[in-house]
Amino acid sequence: MTTITNRTLTTTGEGGLNHAIPPMRLYHKAKELGVWNPQHIDFSGDQKDWQALSDTERDVIIRLTSLFQAGEESVTLDLLPLIMTIAKEGRIEEEMFLTTFLWEEAKHTEFFRRFIDEVTGVTIDLTPYHSDSYKHIIYEELPASLHALTTDPSPANQVKASVTYNMIVEGVMAETGYHGYYAMLDRNKILPGLKEGIGLLKRDESRHIAYGVYLLSRLVASDPSLWEIIEERMNTLFEPALNIVNELFAPYDPMPFDLQIDEFLSFAMNQFQKRMSRIEKARKQTIDEINKMDM
Ligand SMILES: [Fe+2]
Ligand SMILES: [Fe+2]
Repeated sequence: MTTITNRTLTTTGEGGLNHAIPPMRLYHKAKELGVWNPQHIDFSGDQKDWQALSDTERDVIIRLTSLFQAGEESVTLDLLPLIMTIAKEGRIEEEMFLTTFLWEEAKHTEFFRRFIDEVTGVTIDLTPYHSDSYKHIIYEELPASLHALTTDPSPANQVKASVTYNMIVEGVMAETGYHGYYAMLDRNKILPGLKEGIGLLKRDESRHIAYGVYLLSRLVASDPSLWEIIEERMNTLFEPALNIVNELFAPYDPMPFDLQIDEFLSFAMNQFQKRMSRIEKARKQTIDEINKMDM
């Protein structure tokens, strides 16, 4: 049996839980906003709309959904090493937030599969829809960078994992996809259940990404040299992440639903830029200042 003799527990200590720090503020938000049930989304309008769509329209929706489906499953599978790392450091407030994070990813996985089963009725293997750049990030970079924490949970590996997971997969890929998808459904007034679920997912994702911004900022504030690792990781992964958009549009001419590639790409760039400048600021900030950041 392993006994941790130098254990310091937070909630029986003098200060108790710190409700003011960003992860705790996110935890309180998650308990209010993250409790929606994928089983309660009404897909009856979607089932009707599905019948009226053309083959190409159906194909593009199934393709997009196959990316979301595998993405949500992967982030559910790959989050645990980060939670373990945070738990071993005794950061109870952060771990409390991460319990909501993992549960939400599980619900996102459930939500998309419910749409596939109950609206599209598709039973074939969807993995042929996964393009090369997509597979590079979701099949290789994401699991490798997260699972590296199990043998080496150093700050350098933590920033690599968080950049891959929170900044690239959630911040660039998922957010861009949700944004474009939501715009398409809203503009064409179709698939109301899918649209409703994606609205809820986007709200959950914004908390996940906010946590990533906090984590990276906290790590950079304690060691500014980590910024270089973040930049290098971003530069390596940003191009394949954007390339997924090109690969998504490539099989179609014209693209159904009047989807515009520029709309996807400029959204991705803006989101990315905003967050990177926020994290870069942490090089000159104290932990106290990081703890006051807006969430
Ligand atoms: Fe998700
Ligand atoms: Fe997420």
